[in-house]
Amino acid sequence: MPTPSMEDYLEKIYLIFEQKGYARATDVASSLDVLPSSVTKMMQKLDEKGLGVYEKYRGFILTPKGIKIAKDIAYKHHILEEFFRVLEIKSDNIYNEIEGLEHHIGEEMALSIASLVKFFEENPGIKASYIKYRQEMGKQDN
Ligand code: CO
Repeated sequence: MPTPSMEDYLEKIYLIFEQKGYARATDVASSLDVLPSSVTKMMQKLDEKGLGVYEKYRGFILTPKGIKIAKDIAYKHHILEEFFRVLEIKSDNIYNEIEGLEHHIGEEMALSIASLVKFFEENPGIKASYIKYRQEMGKQDN
């Protein structure tokens, strides 16, 4: 698994905070599979960049700017999951693929993916013919 990026830390801190009401370095560390010391270091970096602050009694909290980035990544992660699910894309590595892709998608692309997912869900016949088309194409290539 590649080293989690700053955006991944923001995403995890945000999700843990939403769930528990606080985000401790140890929780973030286990969820990203990194050492707590790496989380502490990243929290300092986020603080320097104005994306989060350490408050004595509340622990580490994200600033509105940090929350905005975290929400954006969480949204992109979610629509990519939907994309893989609806298009029945099989991969042993889906989570890692999504973890990488989520950082490289612009607004237009995000909208395109989200609308394509919705379009296929609302039009199962079209989705079925697309899946069939893709299978045929896979046969030709091999
Ligand atoms: Co990621």
